Amino acid sequence: KHTPRVFSGVKPSGGLQLGNYLGAIKRFVDMQGQDYEAVYCVVDLHAITVWQDPKELKDATREVTAGYLAAGIDPSKSVLFNQSQVPAHTELAWLFNCVARVGWMNRMTQFKDKAGKNAEKVSLGLYAYPALMAADILLYHATHVPVGEDQKQHVELTRDIAAKFNHDYGAEDFFPLPEPIIEGPATRVMNLRDGSKKMSKSGESDMERINMTDDADTIAKKFKKARTDPDPLPDTLEGLKGRPEARNLVDIYAGLSETSPDAVISEFAGAGWGTFKPALADLAVAKLGPISEEMARLMNDKAEIDRVLAQGAERAEAIALPILDRTYDIMGF
Ligand code: ADP
Ligand code: NA
Repeated sequence: KHTPRVFSGVKPSGGLQLGNYLGAIKRFVDMQGQDYEAVYCVVDLHAITVWQDPKELKDATREVTAGYLAAGIDPSKSVLFNQSQVPAHTELAWLFNCVARVGWMNRMTQFKDKAGKNAEKVSLGLYAYPALMAADILLYHATHVPVGEDQKQHVELTRDIAAKFNHDYGAEDFFPLPEPIIEGPATRVMNLRDGSKKMSKSGESDMERINMTDDADTIAKKFKKARTDPDPLPDTLEGLKGRPEARNLVDIYAGLSETSPDAVISEFAGAGWGTFKPALADLAVAKLGPISEEMARLMNDKAEIDRVLAQGAERAEAIALPILDRTYDIMGF
């Protein structure tokens, strides 16, 4: 059977936002040091599925790396590396392009959301993205994939690719069927201006999201301007039904304070936004401030970040290359 191993990634496609922290990076840190090996990646090859300015890509990769490190990923405990420095990802992705079915890709809701009415004009890479993501995960025989809710369907597709490969090539259990781990109160942080969309690095307006590097005043202003209904907070969680914007702010508070939405509601029952929003802003500043300071410090020493990534790539390849070789063998190369 497969040894438990964790894999996950974050795209360097703009600055890190609060959803990346609460839904992903913070949880990676919480999982660190448990009984399994963890592999964390800056997935730059995923970033270029939409246009990235070549002058900014490397620094964006360094900034996500700085975010991982500042939040508490320890490169001596976890493998921390950059996807494009391990070419085996691209190789396995091609093999998986020949395993995955077009019909499966056509069901991916994230592609439909991102392509919108423009499906003929987006890159082929955006369409094939989930096969590359399957390669990222299965290249390490990862068994557990901590992600935000938006990535659940892609992890399920990864399982389908693993199962089809194992079946078609008579390679029973060669690839594990990885489990998505979607836990905690903030697995889907919503856009602050539009409660029907998730918070994302690449939204239209900066007011939609809290960036990891926002200063205290900006954080306070963004929460103050966040859309809500006019009602005060209810006495029970039930009372938040049908109030997505209010629920989102409660979930963010719970994620940042490491409690449950129930606990937040008991603390703030009956409070109006004039009370809750400043409390939320203070909490966010207290939690994010030290991380963004450390990110800034790390970004002043790019050579050090590059050294961490180079060492991480070596450790990643040590796991990945034997698995890629066996995959080629199984396929008859
Ligand atoms: P983005 O959508 O901001 O570009 P990525 O695609 O790089 O983020 O995702 C990196 C990780 O962050 C994934 O595990 C993803 O599920 C998680 N994530 C992204 N946005 C959110 C969000 N709004 N709430 C919770 N988790 C999120
Ligand atoms: Na995403």
